[in-house]
Amino acid sequence: MFDTIYSIFFWIGFLAVVPYVILVIYGAYGCKEQDLKKKYNAKWALVTGGSSGIGAALVRKLAGQQLNVVIVALDDQLFKDFKAKIVQEFPSLEFRFVACDLSTASGDAYLDAIKAATNDIDIQILCNNAGFITTGCFADTAEKRNMANYHTNVTACLTLSHHFLNRMLDKGLKGLVTYTSSSAGFIPNPMGALYASTKDFLTTFAASIAAEHVEDGIDVLVIHPSPINSNFYSNAGKMSALLSAQKISSPPSVVADTVCRNAGKVVVADQGIITVLMKIGLTKVLDWNVFTEIMKLAIPFNGDYKAMKVRREIKRD
Ligand SMILES: NC(=O)c1ccc[n+]([C@@H]2O[C@H](COP(=O)([O-])OP(=O)(O)OC[C@H]3O[C@@H](n4cnc5c(N)ncnc54)[C@H](OP(=O)(O)O)[C@@H]3O)[C@@H](O)[C@H]2O)c1
Repeated sequence: MFDTIYSIFFWIGFLAVVPYVILVIYGAYGCKEQDLKKKYNAKWALVTGGSSGIGAALVRKLAGQQLNVVIVALDDQLFKDFKAKIVQEFPSLEFRFVACDLSTASGDAYLDAIKAATNDIDIQILCNNAGFITTGCFADTAEKRNMANYHTNVTACLTLSHHFLNRMLDKGLKGLVTYTSSSAGFIPNPMGALYASTKDFLTTFAASIAAEHVEDGIDVLVIHPSPINSNFYSNAGKMSALLSAQKISSPPSVVADTVCRNAGKVVVADQGIITVLMKIGLTKVLDWNVFTEIMKLAIPFNGDYKAMKVRREIKRD
C-alpha cells in the first residue's frame, strides 16, 4: 500500500518536472540560431515597442538577418533617437516607423496607421512586444491608467495578431508571431495584479493559437524573459521586488537570441535561469490555489504593501 502511494507521488513529481526540464534544455541548448528571413522566406518584420529594451534588441537582431523592419512605438524622444540610430546602423535596409499609442480601447487609430504603413508589404514576422507594468493596488490606481495598461498589454496584441494572421493566411504565407509575456503571470501577483493577469492572458492565448496555425506554417512563440535590463524598471515605480529583479537582469539581446533559436521549435520559451527556477519553484512545487492562500497570509508583511497602506491612510485623512 505504502509502496503504491510512494510510486504514484514519484510519478506525479517526475512528470511535473522532468519533461519540462528536458524541454527547457532543448530550447536553451538544443536549438541553434536560425535565419528567420530564410526560414519564413520573409522580407519584412514588425516589432511593437521597438524603440527600446527588448523591442529594440529584436529590431537589431532581425535587421542583422537582413530583414526590413516596421517599428511601432510611442511618439517620444526615445523613438526619434532610435530612428536616427537604426538607419545609421543598417544603411542597406528599409525601416518604416509608426508612431502611435497602443493603449486605446479601440484599435482603430493605431491599426489605420499601421495598415497605411504596411498595406504594400508582407509582414511575416510579427513581434507583439510593447507592454508595461503598473505597480500598486488595482483599486488605488486610476481607472484610466489600468485600462491603458490592459489595452497595451492585451488588446493591441489581439488587434495586430488578428490583422496580420489573416494577411498571412489569405496569401498562404509562412510566418512567425511572437508575444513577450512574463513569468509574473505564473502566480497571483498582488501589487501587480493587472500586469500579471495580462501576461497570463498572453501566454494562454499564444499557446492556444499556436496549435490552430501549425498546419498553416505560421509559428507562434511566447517568451517568458528572466529579468531584462531596460526602461521597464524605470517606468515601473519603486517596488522592492522589481528593484531586486533589476539587480540580476540580463541585456535585452538575450531575448532576441531566444526568439531566433526557438521560433518554430517550441511554443513557450522560458528564457533564463530565473524564469526556469520560478516555473519549477512556484508552479510545480506548490499548487496554484495553495499559493493564493499563502499570498493572502503573507501580504501584510510585504514592505511595498505596508507602504501602500500608509499612503492610503494619508489620502483618507
Ligand atoms: N524587462 C523585463 O525584465 C521584462 C521581463 C518580462 C517581460 N517583459 C516585457 O517585455 C516587453 C518589453 O519591455 P522592455 O523590458 O523592453 O521595456 P521598455 O524598454 O520600457 O520597452 C517597452 C516598449 O513598449 C513601448 N510602449 C509602452 N507603452 C506603449 C504604448 N501605449 N504604445 C506604444 N508603445 C508603447 C515603449 O515605448 P516608450 O519607450 O516610448 O515608452 C517601449 O518601446 C514588455 O511587454 C514587458 O512587459 C519585460
